[in-house]
Amino acid sequence: MNKSKKSILEGKRILLGITGGIAAYKVPDLVRLLIKAKADVRVVMTDAAQQFVTPLTMQAISQHVVATDLFDLSQEATIGHIELADWAELLVIAPATADVVARLALGFANDLLTTIALACQAPLLIAPAMNVNMWQHPATKNNVAVLTERGAEIVGPGHGELACGWVGSGRMSEPEEILEGCCRALGPQDLKGLRILVTAGPTYEALDPVRFITNRSTGKMGYALAQAAAWRGADVILVSGPTVLPTPVGVKRIDVESAREMHDKVVAHRSDADVIALVAAVGDYRPQVVSTKKLKKTALGNTPSIQLEENPDILKELGAKKWVGKRKPPFLIGFAAETENIEQHAAAKFQAKGCDLMIANDISEAGSGFKTDTNRVYIVSNHRDKADKPTGEWLPKMTKAEVANAILDKMINILNP
Ligand SMILES: Cc1cc2nc3c(=O)[nH]c(=O)nc-3n(C[C@H](O)[C@H](O)[C@H](O)COP(=O)(O)O)c2cc1C
Repeated sequence: MNKSKKSILEGKRILLGITGGIAAYKVPDLVRLLIKAKADVRVVMTDAAQQFVTPLTMQAISQHVVATDLFDLSQEATIGHIELADWAELLVIAPATADVVARLALGFANDLLTTIALACQAPLLIAPAMNVNMWQHPATKNNVAVLTERGAEIVGPGHGELACGWVGSGRMSEPEEILEGCCRALGPQDLKGLRILVTAGPTYEALDPVRFITNRSTGKMGYALAQAAAWRGADVILVSGPTVLPTPVGVKRIDVESAREMHDKVVAHRSDADVIALVAAVGDYRPQVVSTKKLKKTALGNTPSIQLEENPDILKELGAKKWVGKRKPPFLIGFAAETENIEQHAAAKFQAKGCDLMIANDISEAGSGFKTDTNRVYIVSNHRDKADKPTGEWLPKMTKAEVANAILDKMINILNP
């Protein structure tokens, strides 16, 4: 688990409501993740939930008494329902049955969980889990729409094989995704209303259907930036080269392979973006000729050579064309992977490409650049120094998620001085 999830959830009081669905078996994992992130977790279970997982299990994992009964005097004496409602900084219901979704939508207070939910002023996060036909029923759709309208955050459900044997939408999201939702719900919402386009990963430049030229980018920095921006309330589109990373929660992902595909997608979405962060390691060159058939070893000759031609320079193109119609041009964040003279290269690239922030790192340094989970970056911005030159600063080595948040902080400071 990265540090930033820990820091968002650390000390946060999360009330977890469990209702009566098969997916309740996954909830102990969610509680474990929340506790690992240093959240303070209390559990409330409906009667039906106790058919699937025992209060004893949840008590052992959460290390607190589990509340189950509105009318049990001994429970009410230790932790009253209003007290729990007031205590919570976030109410999470996972799994959320069709039944509880309906009761919440109608404002029922006919058991401990719904009474708490009605009294609770904290944000509500719901992870529905049910049979696909229950999920697609107009009644459930309507109830979910009512809750969304009221500001509830709905995580999932996912698509796949369901416990009932059907295949379709209705699987409870994985605990990790629900955890991401908690981070989003509890994170600062200072980017709400901003539309951010992020590119990430490497590009593949095909030689033939089998071979391609690529680089060592894994996409981790771009994905971290997309995730951090989404947690902070931005609408994020991620144009991604080939990676094995899961799509950040709440982010719309568009997959591409080549530099030209990435260029076309970025240009197509440029006018929808307030901020564009080009984090991808885009191949500078591509083979001039791409064979439609696999090249045979013999056809390549003894010392094969590959003729290359230049790919479009996406950053330069966006930096040069600052105004699209009458709209304010997007705030442009460029990235530079360097192996020497980082500060000079970053400053030169900042000027040449016309961006608002340039983030450079030394990919030859241990714990920085490709593949690692950490990064040490040098940021050049248009804040002028005494000699009227753009200023640069080194940030300490941090996780990529922390670097992402630091970049977003810097961007916000420039956008809202
Ligand atoms: C084996 C079994 C599995 C069930 N799984 C689900 C489920 O995944 N989702 C759901 O909405 N209801 C499911 N139900 C039905 C609920 O348990 C039932 O609607 C119950 O009244 C829910 O109560 P609660 O919302 O108070 O927890 C299941 C019932 C049984 C017997």
